[in-house]
Amino acid sequence: TGRCVVAVDGPSGSGKSTVSRRLATQLAARYLDTGAMYRAVTWAVLRSGVDLTDPVAVTKVATEADLVIGTDPAGYPVSVDGVGVEAAIRGPEVTGAVSAVSAVPAVRALLVARQRDMIAAAGRIVVEGRDIGSVVAPDADLKVYLTASADARARRRSAEDASDVTATAADLARRDRLDSTRAADPLRQAPDAVELDTTELGIDEVVARLRELLNSKG
Ligand code: C5P
Repeated sequence: TGRCVVAVDGPSGSGKSTVSRRLATQLAARYLDTGAMYRAVTWAVLRSGVDLTDPVAVTKVATEADLVIGTDPAGYPVSVDGVGVEAAIRGPEVTGAVSAVSAVPAVRALLVARQRDMIAAAGRIVVEGRDIGSVVAPDADLKVYLTASADARARRRSAEDASDVTATAADLARRDRLDSTRAADPLRQAPDAVELDTTELGIDEVVARLRELLNSKG
């Protein structure tokens, strides 16, 4: 059980979280949800009341917030300044603001550095996000880019949080657009990432496919 870093990127609703957690459990590895880190910083920004469009103020909040995130795939606490934010970071306020906060280059630099430290400390880890294979861990042992049809993604997301499918589809489209068009580390498939369309696949099929890919790499 030596070092093994798996980078899982893709848009919202592509199945990243469920697949990454299950894969980490099977590999007896740690798991890092980088989206939760951007969400936690966004929660801190909203709490502070600073203007979301002021990158200097947003960066100051991000720098001063004491963000702690666990890496156990079975359950990972997320806190900001000692306050548990697991539920709040999944709420509509944070979801509505996270793309703006994650577009601030200094916020990304801060979180990317933290993510690299956590990956180095863990050694064996499955990391999910938007820029893991391209920016955070370009030397990952396996890079996967998960996709699914817009329809399947909206259905999965609204099943998770019991939200309206049409509203969810619109929100996913909005975040995809913001995440892929921002200047700093946009959502992008790394050239050496394996693309997997999960529209017609079950979670276990995707996990099995990733394990095959890992095994074939030795
Ligand atoms: O994956 P999740 O939907 O929780 O990510 C929330 C948001 O965090 C994304 O829409 C994106 O704006 C940002 N994010 C990012 N880079 C990552 C992970 C998430 O910019 N590596």
